[in-house]
Amino acid sequence: MLHLSEQKHLSRPNAEILVVGGGKGGVGKTCFSVNMAVEIARRGWRVILLDADLSCSNIETVLGVKSNTRLDDFFHQRGTKTLESIVSDTPYENLRLIPGTTGLLDVANPRYQQKVALIRELRNLDADLIIVDLDAGAHLNTLDFFLMTETNGVLVITPERTSIDNAFKFLRAALFRRIERFYQSPEVGYLLKRNETLHDFIESIQKADCFEKETGDQVCQELRALARSFRPRIVVSKANNAYEAKIAANILAKYARQLLHIEPDSLGYVYFDKYVSDAVNAGVPFVVGRPHLTISHCIKDMANRLGYF
Ligand SMILES: Nc1ncnc2c1ncn2[C@@H]1O[C@H](COP(=O)(O)OP(=O)(O)O)[C@@H](O)[C@H]1O
Ligand SMILES: [Mg+2]
Repeated sequence: MLHLSEQKHLSRPNAEILVVGGGKGGVGKTCFSVNMAVEIARRGWRVILLDADLSCSNIETVLGVKSNTRLDDFFHQRGTKTLESIVSDTPYENLRLIPGTTGLLDVANPRYQQKVALIRELRNLDADLIIVDLDAGAHLNTLDFFLMTETNGVLVITPERTSIDNAFKFLRAALFRRIERFYQSPEVGYLLKRNETLHDFIESIQKADCFEKETGDQVCQELRALARSFRPRIVVSKANNAYEAKIAANILAKYARQLLHIEPDSLGYVYFDKYVSDAVNAGVPFVVGRPHLTISHCIKDMANRLGYF
């Protein structure tokens, strides 16, 4: 008879990577990542949290830990320090952490090769799930980390228009970055910079005289396939009620579908609760400090939806 944890290890040979982004700062990405990581780890899965907010990392504060290693150690000492060697334990069983950077300039802008090395080593870490907490904005670093799982990122938004707008722009930037890297063609790059939506971009390819009709048709098909391969999952944070959360997720999904040909899924929502701020100040994730609050149940429901029972 296998122990439960052994059964889980057998069923997940490779770590799943869940990248949490969304474009806007302060919407609740880090609180979501930390509480989700703690909740899933408590269920017996081996989880690693990566603080990939290169300019303003704060997972340690929210989790209430202080590590001796930092992501700087990996970027600075490439070749001598493996990623595994900077993974630190946390007070929570099954949960380990790769702490963020100090935010110093050279580390806030790792070279592309350093990012590629990080992403490669991340895939080889011994874990069931790796949750990557991104920073705000749509800088290349953030987009490259978001794209590392190809498509299955989480977009955290609040029910505010600014947050929905930013998440849309973030998704568009990620899709356009993926297209740019896929073709690496000056013609595609030129047209990409002149269009605001995939819809317009496809039209401009069809009209462009630099492509033969057959090539143009093929590119358009590929573009639609690239967009379809994105399946981001929307999480609405700080919602006042379920209806408001649903509307916000629907608006983002509608824009993504119509303008980017991307079909997002809805993962769930977390209510606004002023206790979250106390939990951050106490350094105790709310799923631990207040497991019976509705916000903790929101996280539990989403952990179930992700398949980590
Ligand atoms: N569900 C929530 N309800 C109320 N306040 C929240 C909630 N989630 C996050 N917050 C507050 O918002 C602040 C920013 O959250 P954080 O997770 O750090 O955002 P981000 O990582 O997106 O910048 C936190 O310090 C916390 O006090
Ligand atoms: Mg954050």
